Amino acid sequence: MSKNTRKLKVGVIGCGRISVMHLVSVASLEETELVACCDIRLDRAEAAAREYGGRAYASYEEMFDKEELDAVHLCLPHYLHSKVAIYAFERGVNVLTEKPMDIDMESALLAVKRAKECGVQFGVIFQCRYNRSSLLVKDAVTSGRLGKVISARSTLTWSRPRDYYCESDWKGTWDKEGGGVIIDQAIHSLDLVRWVVDSEIESISCTLSNRGHDCIEVEDTAEGLVTFKNGVRYGFYCMNNYGCDEPIEIRLYCEKGRVVFDYDHAYITYNDGTTEEAHPDKIHLSYGGGKDYWGLHHVRQIKQFYSALLGKEPLEITGEEALKTHEMVMNIYNIGRKGLEKD
Ligand SMILES: NC(=O)c1ccc[n+]([C@@H]2O[C@H](COP(=O)([O-])OP(=O)(O)OC[C@H]3O[C@@H](n4cnc5c(N)ncnc54)[C@H](O)[C@@H]3O)[C@@H](O)[C@H]2O)c1
Repeated sequence: MSKNTRKLKVGVIGCGRISVMHLVSVASLEETELVACCDIRLDRAEAAAREYGGRAYASYEEMFDKEELDAVHLCLPHYLHSKVAIYAFERGVNVLTEKPMDIDMESALLAVKRAKECGVQFGVIFQCRYNRSSLLVKDAVTSGRLGKVISARSTLTWSRPRDYYCESDWKGTWDKEGGGVIIDQAIHSLDLVRWVVDSEIESISCTLSNRGHDCIEVEDTAEGLVTFKNGVRYGFYCMNNYGCDEPIEIRLYCEKGRVVFDYDHAYITYNDGTTEEAHPDKIHLSYGGGKDYWGLHHVRQIKQFYSALLGKEPLEITGEEALKTHEMVMNIYNIGRKGLEKD
């Protein structure tokens, strides 16, 4: 950035668990300056501001009134995403929101529409697309090296113990989280497969169940089959009753080879015996307490967002792009909630 170019002024709204990934990124990028940290729990906003910079606010309305903002990052409970995003758009402020877009389709569609009408950028975090493994697999498919994808599958076995839900006033509820293991944890692997397969969805069949969390309303286990219009059949299984967070595994069976990848590694074996591999970046930022499986690439996606704001390149994961995965997730719930089993 040249000496004459001012830094973009950024606020982070919601200073809970994931916010550190945004705070560290915004504080470290040369394009950005963290000017405000906001949380209804003022102690959290103050702690973030002390550590990473900016002024602390307990109300986002007050923050918008008092600060000249170029962009805000939303690290909020799911049901607030579109509402606060639209509040920002209407004040001419660009938004980068954490996944998911919201808890229903209508709110997400409205947010995309209002961003367009207000002439601002709207980005949605799916940071796993920026892992080396994901980038290699996407390139091997789009370049044709792997030929046509025939089938895909993903498995996620993670641990979200009782305390994870009991300590939160919004997780585990339909009206604030909008679901459980699908909308919160498996959404990244669903997004990766949908992005790599790159086709509209023909049909979904799935079951949702709650097998091990009597303290929550939503599903902790889900499995299903998504059939894409290009013929790819994608089977998924996810549950958060496991003893630890095992690496997610995604497999692709393609015309010219097979792929196995997780968030950090990818192994491609072509039918002619040649191979390609991707491994994690050796150098990365320290996220002071952030979890490894959150991916090391929030900062890459955040940098891409600011590069787009500065007019250097188009925004990659726009609201429109994220809507495709959001629609898939919402359809899984529309179908699965009808038969939700609670053991
Ligand atoms: N990309 C990823 O890998 C990843 C990982 C974890 C969480 N997330 C997402 O990040 C978001 C936040 O999740 P979390 O685990 O940090 O939740 P959290 O509950 O730890 O943090 C949310 C924060 O928002 C604050 N808040 C609530 N209402 C507010 C309001 N009206 N104004 C200002 N602040 C308000 C809460 O006080 C809390 O501190 C969710 O969308 C979640 O799905 C993404």
